[in-house]
Amino acid sequence: MQLGTLTLQNPICLAAAPWQLDGAGYERLGAIFTRTVTMEPKPGLYEEGIWQVNEQTLLNATNMRTESAEILVQEHLPHLLSYGVPVFVSITAPGIPGFRKIARFLAREVGRQIAGVEVYMAQPDTEKGAELNAKFVREATQAVRNELGPESIIVVKLPPWPEHIRGLALGAQEGGATALAATNVLKALHLSDDATAAPVTGGLSGEALRPVALRCVWELAHDSRITLPIFGTGGVFTAAHVSDYLRCGATAVQIASGEWLEPGLSARLAAECGHLIPASL
Ligand SMILES: Cc1cc2nc3c(=O)[nH]c(=O)nc-3n(C[C@H](O)[C@H](O)[C@H](O)COP(=O)(O)O)c2cc1C
Repeated sequence: MQLGTLTLQNPICLAAAPWQLDGAGYERLGAIFTRTVTMEPKPGLYEEGIWQVNEQTLLNATNMRTESAEILVQEHLPHLLSYGVPVFVSITAPGIPGFRKIARFLAREVGRQIAGVEVYMAQPDTEKGAELNAKFVREATQAVRNELGPESIIVVKLPPWPEHIRGLALGAQEGGATALAATNVLKALHLSDDATAAPVTGGLSGEALRPVALRCVWELAHDSRITLPIFGTGGVFTAAHVSDYLRCGATAVQIASGEWLEPGLSARLAAECGHLIPASL
């Protein structure tokens, strides 16, 4: 996959997720995307709230604790960089000034060490009922681009909304994104067998997400206005799943749930799929 001036050695990448994963074979990957960080650490209910909905489907709880960019840079980045593959720091913020601030911090502290950033487009002001829209995506991307400079790589990660994803992607493209990632988790709810336990709200990932994420990738790849390369993200467990994403128009894939359920899966798929060249290249 070509990202600006950077060529990924392999189409298999590690998606944004907790970095306390087994690192065996990560040097084979195309890239590593860190867990999302914010400028200030965000307290949450859970350190790592992950429920297994069924064999290959997870729900990770809303209200997870979020690390600060500073902790990532000081404590985790050196280890992630030691694999020798491009590392993208995943960032989010509640509004445009927040995106500007965190991008400025990263540009100053680690601008030359990281390959770029991935922008997690979260809904601003959700409590007030506001929804993520193309204008916000454009302005957030632009704010990050202005801080990181014209050469840096900015991947914009979008939610799994097939009806709206083209508009959001156009916002990212107009704001100066280098690539898109489709998709992040799907809002869902999990009820355990214990009838007295409270329902858990969170984000669905893995097998159940894959058909929706494939549709999102397909929507993006079949819109002639959208010219950015696409990372397919959701439910990759096998080489056949990687091929499915490439057939739908992605140029690389990111893996989170598969790696969590089967540590070492990404490296194994990287060994199996290194030869897969997307049709569009
Ligand atoms: C445990 C867990 C933690 C995650 N944390 C993040 C995160 O910090 N930032 C982010 O953008 N996506 C996060 N995701 C979403 C994944 O990066 C990915 O977009 C999604 O899970 C779909 O891929 P998958 O089916 O391979 O898991 C997380 C997913 C899981 C399962």
